[in-house]
Amino acid sequence: MNVLLVGSGGREHALAWKINQSPKLDRLFIAPGNAGTQSLGTNLQISDTDIDGLLQFAKKNDVGLTIVGPEAPLASGIVDIFTDAELPIFGPKAAAAKLESSKSFAKKVMGKWGIPTASHVSFNKPDKAIAYLDEITSFPTVIKADGLAAGKGVYICKNKAEAVSAISEIMVSKVFGNAGKTLVIEEFLDGWELSAFAFTDGNSISELVAACDYKRIGEDDTGPNTGGMGAFSPPPIWDQNMKDTIMDLVIRPVIDGMRTDHEPFMGTLFAGMMITNEGPKVVEFNCRLGDPETQVLLPLLDSDLLDIVESCVNGTLESSDVKWSSNSSVAIVLASGGYPNSYSTGHRIGGISHRDEKTKNISRWHHN
Ligand code: AMP
Ligand code: GLY
Repeated sequence: MNVLLVGSGGREHALAWKINQSPKLDRLFIAPGNAGTQSLGTNLQISDTDIDGLLQFAKKNDVGLTIVGPEAPLASGIVDIFTDAELPIFGPKAAAAKLESSKSFAKKVMGKWGIPTASHVSFNKPDKAIAYLDEITSFPTVIKADGLAAGKGVYICKNKAEAVSAISEIMVSKVFGNAGKTLVIEEFLDGWELSAFAFTDGNSISELVAACDYKRIGEDDTGPNTGGMGAFSPPPIWDQNMKDTIMDLVIRPVIDGMRTDHEPFMGTLFAGMMITNEGPKVVEFNCRLGDPETQVLLPLLDSDLLDIVESCVNGTLESSDVKWSSNSSVAIVLASGGYPNSYSTGHRIGGISHRDEKTKNISRWHHN
């Protein structure tokens, strides 16, 4: 089978590495890929948001399965368009991808199906949001742009002045563009943060696996949020009881709820949660694998990824084998100076071959 992998991150490098281990694979194409994926398949000069370009390529090159890494093409409906063209593709349709692309949609789903999450209020006018701050009795409070902001649209505000400035950055300076047309003010959750992942065909759900991801740029978890500076798996508090609780309180109700509401979710459901004194509470849902979580999770997957992905697309996940090893893994992100604000790219990275000699069990994942 020929496989088209969409994306250019370290996540896609890890996916390409795992897909290469499948006996089902003939050719692997990565659009657009990166320096790491070029030794694992053929990088294409098609951007991950050029859905028509991807569709034409898949049609012409006998692509039997397309796997989408990032959220943007999912939110733009790549799965709807490929499915209409009868091309098998792994990921949720746009209506279900709203679990990630709209925080207010996700909150509605959680409210409807009783899934524990932070209490919240949405606003589409800055003055109303600022006026609401007077009702907040305890800080910190959390202010978020409603739309997709690559993990960077969240402000944890220690006092009212910080909250006013966050509202103004999101809605007046529009630092996240249209993602900030609506904002959400929500309760600050205190606890151990972890992310749980499940493969699903919209009905059956695989065994959960979890990772911890460090999102802040600075040492000791300080400074602004990024797309993720490192991750490890499993979290120290991960055990069978935690898995069952998260499956019963969070994952199963979302998947069943989406199906009941005629927006079945097929793909990878990624629940970001805070494990508080009152139990797990959802911070966000993502409709895809995480980056850098994928880089720590896929080395722990003992089963054939193409097998799993195909069975999700075909609705036969129940009869597929999804086995996670009990080993541990860790990933560290190196980013160009200035990240997550403005930063320059294209620098040469040296010293990798030397490191490989010393640490044979360490893989390296390239991000564009
Ligand atoms: P999000 O983009 O919603 O995943 O938020 C990014 C990060 O901000 C999360 O991974 C948390 O570390 C933090 N965060 C978001 N919402 C909350 C909250 N209600 N309470 C505490 N921390 C939060
Ligand atoms: N590492 C967080 C994410 O992929 O959204």
